Amino acid sequence: MALYLVTGGAGFIGSHMVEALVGRGDAVRVADNLSTGKRENLAHLPGVDLRVGDLAELEFAREVCDGVDYVLHQAAIPSVPRSVSDPITSNRSNIDATLNVLVAARDAGVKRVVYAGSSSAYGDTPTLPKHEDMPTGPLSPYALQKLVGEQYCQLFTRLYGLETATIRYFNVFGPRQDPSSPYSGVISLFIRALLEGRAPTIHGDGEQTRDFTYVTNVVDGAFRALVVPEAAGKVFNVATGGRISLNELLDTLKRLTGAKVEATYGPSRAGDVRDSQADITRAREVLGYETLVGLEEGLRRTVLWFENGR
Ligand code: UD1
Repeated sequence: MALYLVTGGAGFIGSHMVEALVGRGDAVRVADNLSTGKRENLAHLPGVDLRVGDLAELEFAREVCDGVDYVLHQAAIPSVPRSVSDPITSNRSNIDATLNVLVAARDAGVKRVVYAGSSSAYGDTPTLPKHEDMPTGPLSPYALQKLVGEQYCQLFTRLYGLETATIRYFNVFGPRQDPSSPYSGVISLFIRALLEGRAPTIHGDGEQTRDFTYVTNVVDGAFRALVVPEAAGKVFNVATGGRISLNELLDTLKRLTGAKVEATYGPSRAGDVRDSQADITRAREVLGYETLVGLEEGLRRTVLWFENGR
């Protein structure tokens, strides 16, 4: 039976991947330093081999890659503002650890590594939607780090023959996204504020747009990138192909939660991208990817999860 390593598997997106792998009967190992991940995200999943440690240490990366067939590399410090305030710590998690995982995967004879890239790599492109062949333009340390990680992946494919594929995520949301930090994803912060009757904060005028993507879609996209032969060495946008503004998002969440509070508007965030929308043609054509859960349905499921006490 194939063994899957999910780095960052105790985190939000990683735990959904682990859940799907366990659900289909696969053997799963998780490597996580529990910095933003939590043991409780895996508590409902029996038989997962959880290894707690720091992938920025090469020895740990080697230990967890031993005997592994496929790697889903999700471990990261996933925050634009956190990288702006502390670029060195996020560089270590997002670049040093990625290089270690690639070296360890190469030496362990791993069949393929699928890497969690980010739409932030595009920066403020003049045209929408954003296509994988467009020039990149990182606006934050996080965006640059994620881009370096995917370029390392491509380099490892060319130089050492290690098969890799990058999925560029676009603002992923869903159950288990943690709203407890000011660096948390906006949907988790908005839902929690609305359910507690507090005013959510909008940074800027709220007219910035995002291609918010329910987590099930990116799990499906990443699993396809693990097995489709033509995916090796490539980069894919995995999202819905749509976009909505934060003001529209908040109106939808107010309708779904029944909350009556108004937003507080504050200054724009440093390093923020104005508009983000994916062209998903390549994922469709090469991976056979289609959006499985649309925005409204995803928001409904996420609100339900937060309402049920998480
Ligand atoms: C960025 C990346 C995304 C990456 C994520 C990791 C882009 C386009 N997307 O998301 O690919 O996975 O980082 O964190 O760069 N906001 C508020 N109020 C809040 C919190 C946020 O108005 O309380 C605003 C932000 O200023 C931003 C938007 O909501 O305009 C989304 O913010 P966030 O959820 O943090 O994600 P991004 O930074 O867009």
